[in-house]
Formats: sequence, structure tokens, C-alpha cells
Amino acid sequence: MFLQVDSLSKIYGSNDNKSIVLNKISFSLEKGSLCTLLGPSGSGKSTLLNAIGGLESCQEGSILIDNTDITKLKANPLGEYRRNHLGFVFQFYNLIPDLTVAENIQVGSFIGKDCLDLDTLIKNLDLWEHRNKFPKQLSGGQQQRCAIGRALIKKPDLLLCDEPTGALDYKTSKDILALIQKINKEYKTTVIMATHNEAITHMADRTIRLRDGMILADTKNDRLVSAKDLEW
Ligand SMILES: Nc1ncnc2c1ncn2[C@@H]1O[C@H](COP(=O)(O)OP(=O)(O)OP(=O)(O)O)[C@@H](O)[C@H]1O
Ligand SMILES: [Mg+2]
Repeated sequence: MFLQVDSLSKIYGSNDNKSIVLNKISFSLEKGSLCTLLGPSGSGKSTLLNAIGGLESCQEGSILIDNTDITKLKANPLGEYRRNHLGFVFQFYNLIPDLTVAENIQVGSFIGKDCLDLDTLIKNLDLWEHRNKFPKQLSGGQQQRCAIGRALIKKPDLLLCDEPTGALDYKTSKDILALIQKINKEYKTTVIMATHNEAITHMADRTIRLRDGMILADTKNDRLVSAKDLEW
């Protein structure tokens, strides 16, 4: 198994103020799968993604990625691990405003070792004509494609997407989802994508449903729908 999450728990506060945000979460994913993390607001999607991405610590449990338990890594090796293996895409792009599209994407390559060719990637993201613009001169979809490029240039084994289409309109959302599906197929990148949109689960081979920090259901999908055919 590529990813193995075992009995992961995260708790905020103590005694009367205790809130269990992740409650004994266990699941595993094979390399190359595309998994959606579905659940209502507050169910723990972002917390789980951040834990898998080594951005938040948990009190209990383990997260094995390619046999490394990242919950046991100290700050430096964890940073190194994140740089070499993980890509993040967020709802609100998080681009650097003073850098152009090309430079924002290139930032991802400064921290990686074996990287994709910048120009080819920009063309694949359909951003070539916008490569010298700054984020504020771009549409939301273009900014998100740029953010995906920044995450992808270092060829991550695992791409974590937190509501990547949450700020986008219908048509642009489907373009971004199609891009994520293409990346998953072409580069065999394992993808975990948090969403509260049920329709998006149809493009994923796996869906984990969260409610109140617990796994409500964990299902496989044998009849994959292409992202461009999703409807909601
Ligand atoms: N610092 C904190 N202290 C206490 N509780 C917190 C803290 N940060 C998050 N939480 C709680 O953790 C729970 C899960 O939050 P999380 O952001 O993971 O949910 P989510 O599923 O991503 O929601 P959304 O769909 O709104 O993004 C929420 O109930 C939230 O209030
Ligand atoms: Mg969230």
C-alpha cells in the first residue's frame, strides 16, 4: 500500500471543551488512485489532508507514506519529505502576488530534485499566453491552474487538493477537475481531493465519507466518469 492511515485521532482542547476532530481514522490507498474525501463543513476534511501532508500533528495514530511514518519524523526530515514527495493545492490558490505565472510555477521546482520541464508544463496547463502575467491579472481558473502547476512541477508522489474548485464557477471547476484527472492518469500521481460536492466522487476510484471526524463509508467506484461529463 502506498498510503496507510491507522487509527489517526486529533483532539482540540480538554475535558469539557474537548472536541474530537479526527476520531480513529483508518484507511489505505494504492499508488495511483484518485480518492475523494467527502463530507459537510466541519467534518474534518482539511484537518485530515493537513495531517497527511505533515502540516498538522495528531495525538494518536500513524500515517505511512511509502512505508515512512510521517507522524514520527522530526521537523527537518519532515520538511525534506514534504518537499520531495508532496504537492498541495488549496481552495484559494495561494500564489505569490509579485511573481508571474511562470515564476510562481518555477518556485515549486526550486525545492524539488527531479522536476518537469517548466515550458512544457506551462503549455500543458494551457497557460502559455499568460505566462508573464501576475496573479491579479488572471481569472480564478487560471490562478488555480498555476497553483496546480506549482504543486506538480516537482513530480509529487501524492497530490493533496483541498476544495480545489470551491471558489470557481461550474465550467471552470470542470476544467480544473479534468486537469486533476489527467495528471492522475498520465503521471500516476496519487490524488486525495477534499470536497463537499457529491458529484465529484464519480470521477474518483475511491470515496471516503467523513462525518464528525469519523469515516462514515469507504467505497470503491468501478464506473469512472470523465470529469468533463460530471454534472451538478
Ligand atoms: N484550532 C482549533 N481549535 C478547535 N477546533 C478546531 C480548530 N481548528 C479546527 N477546528 C475544528 O475542527 C473541525 C474540522 O475542521 P476542518 O477544517 O477539518 O473541516 P472541513 O471538513 O475541512 O470543513 P470545510 O468544508 O468547512 O472546509 C471543525 O469542527 C473545526 O471547528
Ligand atoms: Mg476544509
